[in-house]
Amino acid sequence: MSQRPRRLRVSRQLREVVCETRVHADQLIQPHFVLDQESGVEAIPSMPTIDRMGRKEVLKRIEKDLELGIRSVMIFGLAGGARKDNEGTAAQDADGCVPKVVGELKKAFGSDLVVMTDVCLCAYTDHGHCGVLHEGRILNDPSLDLLASTALVHAEAGADVVAPSDMMDGRIGAMRSKLDSNGFDDVAIMSYAVKYASAYYGPFRDAADSAPAAGDRKTYQMDPRNSREALREAALDEAEGADFLMVKPALAYLDVIAKVRAASSLPLAAYNVSGEFSAVKAAVAQGWLDEAAVVSENLHAMVRAGADQIITYHAREALAGAWL
Ligand code: PBG
Ligand code: ZN
Repeated sequence: MSQRPRRLRVSRQLREVVCETRVHADQLIQPHFVLDQESGVEAIPSMPTIDRMGRKEVLKRIEKDLELGIRSVMIFGLAGGARKDNEGTAAQDADGCVPKVVGELKKAFGSDLVVMTDVCLCAYTDHGHCGVLHEGRILNDPSLDLLASTALVHAEAGADVVAPSDMMDGRIGAMRSKLDSNGFDDVAIMSYAVKYASAYYGPFRDAADSAPAAGDRKTYQMDPRNSREALREAALDEAEGADFLMVKPALAYLDVIAKVRAASSLPLAAYNVSGEFSAVKAAVAQGWLDEAAVVSENLHAMVRAGADQIITYHAREALAGAWL
């Protein structure tokens, strides 16, 4: 036999030499659920090790995570029940949950930390949808200005990257022009360009209290059976001015990550979503899976498929435990 693939697998050292895919701390983005209060910690039962935190605890945790090498965070704001209405008005409050914590993060960590903010209305609307609801329909164009204004208050507070997750048509263009006309032409947009109507978001909706009160998100998020459509979504967002594209969820959509990777030269993020995280945690708790090995395999698979960044709830433990 002239070709023996096993020759390159004989030792750990040689396997490292020929390894094709590496995952580095700089690529990982840790999500945070921020309560609209100065202090406090609430566990999220369906997401072990992930908490809802007040600003004080968020700052402390991020400071520790920086020592592990986590330089990027994705901030999710939690409105609190009393402040929700049809238009998600609290999302545009310059003194709201996200702008407050972003301001404190920038003050504490400056450019050492890349602050990304999720831009959506669903945690702030009383009906739990990502846009304005009228007679049972989610209205596209009336939602655009609300989303753009939300991105603007995040930018004014100091966000480096705004990440719209709503899936309204035209939101990247609306946001880009709103940011530019207010002097924030250097604030980047990470578009949740290819976001599927997935059952894997369940634990997140518990955490953010953002499940739709009625109906589902299928009139705005993508059908999981489609992948050519992903290329249309990605191309539109790129044309409208997105700086990063994202595919979400990650594991059931590795083919889509590979396709979008081939079609665009923009940085491409994969969102390793809550349900993917919780499924691993649940199996590990039963003693059915080896957490370090499975998380390493999953994160490498995302990068191997073509992701440049990974938003993952596993980031902290993966780095602290040297799982990668
Ligand atoms: C809000 C938003 C969701 C997620 C990120 N931003 C939930 C949804 O669209 O229902 C999901 C993240 C996760 O499951 O980890 N639009
Ligand atoms: Zn939403």
